[in-house]
Amino acid sequence: MAADLSVALKVALEAAREAGGIIMKHYRQLQRVEKKGAVDLVTEADLACEAAIVATIRRSFPEHTIIAEEGDYQQARASDYRWVIDPLDGTTNYVHGLPMFGVSIGLQVHEETELGVVLNPAQGEEFVALKGQGATLNGKPIHVSEVDHLQDALLVTGFAYRHDEVFHRSFDLYRELHDRCQGVRRLGAAALDLCYVAAGRLDAFYEANLNPWDICAGALICREAGGVTTDWRGESLPFSGERVLASNGRLHREVMAVLARVGPDAMNQDKPGTISPDGH
Ligand code: IPD
Ligand code: CA
Ligand code: CA
Repeated sequence: MAADLSVALKVALEAAREAGGIIMKHYRQLQRVEKKGAVDLVTEADLACEAAIVATIRRSFPEHTIIAEEGDYQQARASDYRWVIDPLDGTTNYVHGLPMFGVSIGLQVHEETELGVVLNPAQGEEFVALKGQGATLNGKPIHVSEVDHLQDALLVTGFAYRHDEVFHRSFDLYRELHDRCQGVRRLGAAALDLCYVAAGRLDAFYEANLNPWDICAGALICREAGGVTTDWRGESLPFSGERVLASNGRLHREVMAVLARVGPDAMNQDKPGTISPDGH
């Protein structure tokens, strides 16, 4: 069934707001915090939010493919429509009562992201984008910053739960970039990091090892706010979420040059990065 994007947006907003309500109901009153890995947490809120979001989407679009962090929703037939969901991005912050977390819901049509909603229920901030129609924060248009040089920029990054070689080398990169700009924040919720670049609060975001649900909605919001999203070599943003770079566009090459020189796969680089004409 072809979905009208304005209907899909209503459904996405309904699902995100319902999840936001669940998140706040459990906030600072968690009964269950489990570990998926040594430091990778999951709570009853992650699971309840995902169940609620999936149920809401399935009610309107039963044939659509769903990819979400906590569950496996394989369909008999693949659909051209693919919802990509992080029910609670920033779980570690959430568990500690730090109000930097959010619900992230993206919709792809033929693998192209058409719609993105990121809601931070603790701060009452709802970021929304439809492809080609700009991005908004609580209904008001947002735009990336106009910072031109790394030395004037405030960056943000994140670190994966898996403490492998890529993780360790990310700290070389962190030191190098921190040395060249006004700071590199680590806020702990990738979807919000992308939205903050969109809103001009931060100038660029990079991270080595994310997942599709961390970036799908936020990357569209960033692009629709005038930003550029690519991998670390300037090629198309990978659906997988590996080697993500999002910026206000003006800083893209300067940040990319450092990523290429110091980043975890600097040794394997055989050609300099290029930004595709559509900026994706
Ligand atoms: C995490 C956050 C964090 C990033 C991690 C993600 P989660 O997502 O987005 O900022 O650094 O790589 O896994 O586990 O809180 O949904
Ligand atoms: Ca996440
Ligand atoms: Ca999550």
